[in-house]
Amino acid sequence: MILVTGGAGFIGSNFILDWIASTGEAVVNLDKLTYAGNLENLASLKDDPRHVFAQGDINDGKLVAKLLSQHQPRAIIHFAAESHVDRSIHGPGEFIQTNINGTFSLLEEVRAYWQGLQGEEKAAFRFLHVSTDEVYGSLGPNDPPFTETTAYAPNSPYSASKAASDHLVRAYHHTYGLPTLTTNCSNNYGAFQFPEKLIPLIILNALNGKPLPIYGDGLNVRDWLYVGDHCTAIRAVLSGGRLGETYNIGGWNEKTNLDVVYTVCAILDELKPNPGITHYSSLITYVKDRPGHDRHYAIDARKIERELGWKPMETFETGIRKTVRWYLDHQPWIANVVSGEYRGWVGRHYG
Ligand code: NAD
Ligand code: TYD
Repeated sequence: MILVTGGAGFIGSNFILDWIASTGEAVVNLDKLTYAGNLENLASLKDDPRHVFAQGDINDGKLVAKLLSQHQPRAIIHFAAESHVDRSIHGPGEFIQTNINGTFSLLEEVRAYWQGLQGEEKAAFRFLHVSTDEVYGSLGPNDPPFTETTAYAPNSPYSASKAASDHLVRAYHHTYGLPTLTTNCSNNYGAFQFPEKLIPLIILNALNGKPLPIYGDGLNVRDWLYVGDHCTAIRAVLSGGRLGETYNIGGWNEKTNLDVVYTVCAILDELKPNPGITHYSSLITYVKDRPGHDRHYAIDARKIERELGWKPMETFETGIRKTVRWYLDHQPWIANVVSGEYRGWVGRHYG
């Protein structure tokens, strides 16, 4: 079996569903269930013995040691993190606590466990650290996309905390020989994403006839990857990645935020027309920019394609349509997620 951290979050839950469906191998899921963790994402595995859930913090060394010795996983996939840039600006403390201290604590327990393994089991063990393209900072207008050798230049407390965790993972490989793999992926979108991130926030606000907030001029560029493609990339790196290496994962889908929002609005106009609103895009509202807002991220994902044969299956056009449909078809999920905690955040952040 494998041990996944943060498996009740957006990408982690998609990964577990995809992993069990495609490999049948059991998963221990260690998740603290912060505001971003939602076991409802895994409701389809409720009575499935291949999903073992443990609520807890990656900083809890005793708990991690117990889970490792009890379940003897052959690999760790480390998703658990505080993941939202805007929250890291309002309150960086939790980001340091989970992303840096938590990764350190997890690495310590995993190192002890791995050092106790023998022969084949020790040789086959992997620690896969899931990270972000945001560690590379912001591209200028003529800069080439990020490669695995682009210098780190994180600009937000979130990206700085992820960069620190990447460095710890690197050091554990270099110093102790821990068999690590790191992936740096661009912006994900798809089912189960918490509606504080751009795409689900826009879908929900549009459906509720609320303003669609665009930071600054809306011309910041992100590369967008459908979450299912991220899951297949992680599986490819886990099975074939070279130890100690990092792999950039991207969708070859660079879009301005305005492009993304207009696309979502056009799909909603078609699938869920509202007689009171001619075009959902009329709800677009420019708001104060995010402090330190990175202008442009772009990923050069040729290494993972060359070495592991991975390429994204979805274009932005196909992935975004599936995503909008998913949110339209899952109103009860949305209603449950839009709880007191989420409304509190929206009130504090957008005023
Ligand atoms: P998310 O915020 O949706 O989920 C994070 C999960 O981690 C939640 O279930 C939460 O309960 C859990 N968690 C938080 N702190 C914890 C702790 N101390 N101990 C145990 N569990 C804890 O995040 P996501 O969008 O699914 O991102 C998952 C990983 O992928 C993160 O490491 C993130 O940096 C990385 N990533 C995300 C994106 C993206 O676009 N969302 C892109 C690239 C990389
Ligand atoms: P986000 O989903 O927060 O991801 P990240 O900051 O990790 O890239 O934001 C994606 C882009 O959308 C980013 O440039 C900020 C912008 N954005 C808005 O314009 N309005 C919003 O309400 C949000 C949440 C984000």
